[in-house]
Amino acid sequence: MTQSADLEDFLAALRDIVGRQACLTSADAMAPYLVEERRLFQGEAAAVVRPANTEEVSRVLALCSEHGVAVVPQGGNTGACGGGVPLSRRAIVLATERMDRIRAIDADNATITVEAGCILANLQAAAREAGFLFPLSLGGEGSCRIGGNLSTNAGGINVLHYGNARELMLGLEVVLPDGRVWNGLRGLRKDNTGYALKHLFVGAEGTLGVITAATLKLFPLPRDRQTAFVAVPSPQAAIELLAHARDVSGDSVTAFELLPRIGLDLGFKNMGGRDPLQQVYSWYALIELSSARPRGLREVFEEILEAGLESGMVLDAAIAETEEQRRELWRLREITAGGHQHQEGGLIKHDISVPVSAIPAMIERGTAAVLERLPGTRVIAFGHAGDGNLHFNLVQPVGHEAQAFFDLRDTMNRIVHDIVHELDGSISAEHGIGLLKIDEMTRYKTPLELELMHRIRQAIDPANIMNPGKVLPPLRSR
Ligand code: FAD
Ligand code: MLT
Ligand code: ZN
Repeated sequence: MTQSADLEDFLAALRDIVGRQACLTSADAMAPYLVEERRLFQGEAAAVVRPANTEEVSRVLALCSEHGVAVVPQGGNTGACGGGVPLSRRAIVLATERMDRIRAIDADNATITVEAGCILANLQAAAREAGFLFPLSLGGEGSCRIGGNLSTNAGGINVLHYGNARELMLGLEVVLPDGRVWNGLRGLRKDNTGYALKHLFVGAEGTLGVITAATLKLFPLPRDRQTAFVAVPSPQAAIELLAHARDVSGDSVTAFELLPRIGLDLGFKNMGGRDPLQQVYSWYALIELSSARPRGLREVFEEILEAGLESGMVLDAAIAETEEQRRELWRLREITAGGHQHQEGGLIKHDISVPVSAIPAMIERGTAAVLERLPGTRVIAFGHAGDGNLHFNLVQPVGHEAQAFFDLRDTMNRIVHDIVHELDGSISAEHGIGLLKIDEMTRYKTPLELELMHRIRQAIDPANIMNPGKVLPPLRSR
């Protein structure tokens, strides 16, 4: 049989499984699934399938396995590294969007079981309605889906208190590449029965199987929440303030985001907004304290800030008095992230982590090295400093040619990532590897780490149909 005849048979069988409506093959219908958020990668595929349930996923994977067709799982397609982009006409996108049900909430166990296609914001809302907090929270939460969050081990703004997606997960249901369903949907906080298989699929970016459902931890809803926008003299002062705030508040700091003035300025310029403080400062921390107790945090926060003012860790601060003011303060974070992404020409992004104590050194050394290579480069180092995670973004100098700046990305990546490596950090803190950072894996992971990853992949997906070409670079021959 010719390859194209085989593909036609395959597509017919695919339609039989999911139904004609849920199997897209026209260029127009497939288009949104073939590009990613930043439009850095344009993909191609034979079809986009949108299965309705685990059984359909299982039958689709068995069929793909039989025909040697690659499977690229996709959730909300908000991923930052191109992991959800299909790379060949012998690949399908498996979109989880129709699998968005809440299967169960177990209040006494404080868990929720949801299908992989559940949008993160809907999951948070379902938890809230049941009187709980599901704390994973990030900018893309209105579109990203929990299967994608788990597959990228997403971070976001509450990690320092509640952990990454991985720490919020208790059990998974996964369809393996050959179509077998592994039901690991246990809501256990203790389970030491051998290797923790579930953790292999978290952060695997779809290279080991399709996550179809998850059992997740729930937490008490915060009844007292205090938010402040705090001017600090330096990143070093911010890190000292974090330690002080954690200590004095009894570890009630649930968010600690570092914002540089330049990021804020570009945010105001391109997205609008207003500075809550009278004067201009170089650095800010957006700090949130939360507690399940109804009151008391306001006084604690004031105590922290007063001590900070006295010791020089704090220069000025605005505390939100109302929920609306709280939202305005969080908007400062949003415009710092968004204000330089599309409007200032060439952009080279980094998502790095270092030990929290090394954040000041990372900013100082990284900025100096980048400026030495190209004076005038605008360094927007912002984000989840409480987790040691910075989005170390580089914006072209004013007046520079955008493409010429973007062409420097390998050079700039090397400069930034080498410093990260020297500081014992990670070149991908929360966004993953996907296609974007695959070459960097060879440089920054040890041969042993890469070999073990390849062995795991070979054991679970010997035919290499799950999202091939992502995450793992080819093994170097020895
Ligand atoms: P997709 O983009 O669809 O897929 C991501 C990867 O997971 C791909 O490799 C895909 O193949 C795989 N995958 C998807 N679903 C499954 C499944 N069911 N089974 C197996 N593999 C699967 N990320 C953060 O971590 N922290 C942030 O603060 C943050 N902020 C963001 C802000 C904005 C404005 C945007 C647009 C994105 C942000 N992101 C952030 C990145 C992105 O939202 C996350 O990576 C998110 O977890 C991706 O989820 P998704 O459903 O969109 O996944
Ligand atoms: C953020 O924290 O705002 C995001 O992770 C940044 C990004 O998507 O680049
Ligand atoms: Zn982030």
